[in-house]
Amino acid sequence: MFTNFPFFPQQASAQAGQVDAIYFFMVAVTAFFSILIAGLVVAFAIKYRRRHRDEVGYAIHGSLALELLWTVIPFFIVMVMFVWGAKVFFDMYRPPAGAMEIYVVGKQWMWKVQHMDGQREINELHVPVGRPVKLIMGSEDVLHSYYIPAFRVKADVIPGRYNELWFTATKAGTYHLFCAEYCGTKHSGMVGSVVAMEPQDFQAWLSGGKASESPVAAGEKLFQDLTCNTCHMAASQGRGPVLTNLFGKPVELQDGSKVVADEGYLRESIVNPQAKIVAGFQPIMPTFQGLVTEEQLLQLISYVRSLSQQGAAPSPAGTSAPQKPQASDRPVVEKK
Ligand code: CUA
Repeated sequence: MFTNFPFFPQQASAQAGQVDAIYFFMVAVTAFFSILIAGLVVAFAIKYRRRHRDEVGYAIHGSLALELLWTVIPFFIVMVMFVWGAKVFFDMYRPPAGAMEIYVVGKQWMWKVQHMDGQREINELHVPVGRPVKLIMGSEDVLHSYYIPAFRVKADVIPGRYNELWFTATKAGTYHLFCAEYCGTKHSGMVGSVVAMEPQDFQAWLSGGKASESPVAAGEKLFQDLTCNTCHMAASQGRGPVLTNLFGKPVELQDGSKVVADEGYLRESIVNPQAKIVAGFQPIMPTFQGLVTEEQLLQLISYVRSLSQQGAAPSPAGTSAPQKPQASDRPVVEKK
């Protein structure tokens, strides 16, 4: 409906229509009342102007009916905005299960992207049309915000935690990508493009020559390089908890409380291991803060995820059925 409205970004995601509908509804309501009130101010100023020097206005003692009317009508209008807006917000907030996952790291002043099967990009994001895509986003330094106007999605990228953003592209094309949070000198240069491609074109792009190691494979290597494996042993109990089948499960802590082993928990356990000690273990793990980059953290986490069938990332290529993405059955990638 509004796709050809001048100065308005085109609608290229499944969410865009819903966001625009509520946006235009609010603009219409606001415009209607602004014009009505401004018109009445002028009309009444003329109608009730002072005609004689000694004229005195009427004393008004109020009207209950009028008070109720202009309380109840706005109440219902804003309730419509609230309920409608909340529905759109919750739809946009909850990624559907089985969405294709992509890691994004914001960094002064660029966007770094890792696809699950090894493709990497900077300041670009390639996605297939017609499939929900979930971005798992972290920041290397300061607050950024990932913003794709044509998809009507924007989310802050926050240091020290993960934030998610999801969309389903509906139209092939190249769209603007912006950083929408002032993040230093070259904030205005932290821009790029999102390329939505037909599924077969996306497959061709994915299998193009640029692929490097998948995050799982890179994470597995890091896990050994950082000697995580000396304490977190695969089968028998080491000095650290076993990580197999850990992802997505509740973990019992020393103080008796429980947490779910999600991305945020794993990230904290790597950079700040003393924050949550697993029941039955000693607080002996050193911090890896500063030793691993945000990208490497995401690689380590995707490796730990790959150790549990439930937490396995959906295959980027095909079905959303959980698969066990072991490093060995990933596409063969060249190592330098
Ligand atoms: Cu990153 Cu502004």
